[in-house]
This record gives sequence, C-alpha cells and structure tokens, in this order.
Amino acid sequence: MTERTRIRKISVQNFKGGVGKTATVLNLGACFADKGYKVLMIDCDTQGDLTEVCGIRLEKRQPTLYHVLIEDLNVMEVVVPLRPNVHILPSDKKLAAAEALLVGMTARETTLSLRLGHLAEFDIVLLDCAPALNLMHQNALLFADELLIPVDMDKLAISGCRAILESVNTLGVYNNFRIPELTGIIPTFVDQRTNITNQVLGVLETLYPGKVLPSIRSDTKLKQAAAASQSIFEFDPKAKSANDYRVVTETLIQMKEGFRDEEATAVSQ
Ligand SMILES: Nc1ncnc2c1ncn2[C@@H]1O[C@H](COP(=O)(O)OP(=O)(O)OP(=O)(O)O)[C@@H](O)[C@H]1O
Ligand SMILES: [Mg+2]
Repeated sequence: MTERTRIRKISVQNFKGGVGKTATVLNLGACFADKGYKVLMIDCDTQGDLTEVCGIRLEKRQPTLYHVLIEDLNVMEVVVPLRPNVHILPSDKKLAAAEALLVGMTARETTLSLRLGHLAEFDIVLLDCAPALNLMHQNALLFADELLIPVDMDKLAISGCRAILESVNTLGVYNNFRIPELTGIIPTFVDQRTNITNQVLGVLETLYPGKVLPSIRSDTKLKQAAAASQSIFEFDPKAKSANDYRVVTETLIQMKEGFRDEEATAVSQ
C-alpha cells in the first residue's frame, strides 16, 4: 500500500480584514464534509475567530496550534472533532507567542509544514489566516498547495489580494520556496444592485482573468449563523449564501476532479 500523497491544502487569505475569510473556511469546510470529504480546518489567526465560531470554548490547559508549532505536540492529539467529517485545529491569543518564538527558529517559515507532516486522515485542509503579512501567513502559504482569496466589494480588498500575491511571489522568487497556486478569488458580500459590486467584479475579471470563482452574496444569515456557532447549512440550508457556498464547493471539486479517485487508487495499490 503506498502512502497517501493526495490531499488538498487550501490557505484562505486576504491582507484586508473582514472580507469573509473565516466564514469561507467554516462554510466550505461544512460543505466539503457534507459531500463526504474528511476536512481539517486550521485556525491560524491569533484572534481565534474560527475556533470561536465553531463554538469551541478552550479549557485552560487545552492544547492548540501553539503547542503543535512550539512543543511539537502530535496534531492528532490537538485536533477537536466538530461534527461528522470535520475537525478543527484550534487557536487562541497564545498563537501570538508562537509567532514571536518562530522568529528565532531556523525553519521559521516552514515549521507548520514540518509539524503537520502527511495528515493522512484528511482529504482537505482549510487554513483560516489573519489579515496580516506575518510569519503565520507565510507558514500557511508554504504548507498549502492552493490559495483562495476572498475579496469583498471594496477596492481596498483588491489591494489586500494583491499584497498576498506579492508576498507569495517574494517567497517563491527571492526565497526559492515551493509556493501554492492561486486556485481562485471568491467575491464576497456581493450585491448586484450596487455600482461598487459591479465595479469591483469588473476590476477582478480584468486583473485575474479565469481566476474569479462564483460569488457569495451579502447575506446577514451568515452573521447570524456565526453567532449561533453554526455553519450556514445547519443554521438555514435554504439561505442564499448556503446555495452560494455549495456552488463554490462544487466548482472547487470540479477544478481538481478526480483528486479523491486518484487517491483511492494510490491507497489501494
Ligand atoms: N457574504 C457575507 N454577507 C454578510 N455577512 C458576512 C458575509 N461573509 C461574512 N460575513 C460576516 O461578516 C463578518 C466578517 O466576516 P469574517 O469574520 O468571515 O471575515 P474575516 O475576513 O475572517 O475577518 P478578519 O480579517 O477579522 O479575520 C462576520 O460577522 C461574518 O459572519
Ligand atoms: Mg477571520
């Protein structure tokens, strides 16, 4: 039996805050899981928003991503099962201390990759990142094979998208690291009735032809779902944003069609 080689590792980033990164990880994770994929979501943000919207109240001594990075704790001892097919590697503000310690380490940009190894239990890993160009952002990029950039309908989000892509380029060209491919840009908070939505969508299509994925509409139910520590599929499966996240998930599956079939073949050999 050969070792599992195919797993999708997708980092979700934008240098602008509040564009829907955490909502995207939570809801894509839930949707992939519904389709039978085994999902690991990693909270790479010191704010711990993903951990919180998943309804996890960390105990005082409960290990987190910090302990995986700094104390080399086995990731499977740290992940928390959420619902069928979904696990989360949680974080809290202690992750900021990990950042500070990583600075002094030799593999400071690749510690996450070194610590997480093969993660043979999962089909998809989704990384939720802070709106920052820090070491965690670099670790997430270098662990991932794919990059997804949510962009809300604000021109600053396009600058935030560009900043992430420049950072990827720097890691690849100047530091010679293996960098993730841009799988796509997800327009978020889309409201077709507004001029700004149409302007931003136009700019994105011009700047990144072929890379703009189906949109997520502006939907207050996403906020209500997060407040209830639920994915949109649990909160209101008929919500317009639930449908939008289903379409994006389907698109992401079709883009890499057969990755699980290839995997099944590899594992059975
Ligand atoms: N399409 C949407 N329509 C309406 N509200 C949304 C949408 N996507 C996310 N939200 C809500 O907007 C807020 C910000 O979203 P989210 O936390 O996912 O952004 P973020 O990019 O992760 O922010 P940060 O940069 O602070 O990590 C949250 O309250 C979330 O529930
Ligand atoms: Mg967030």
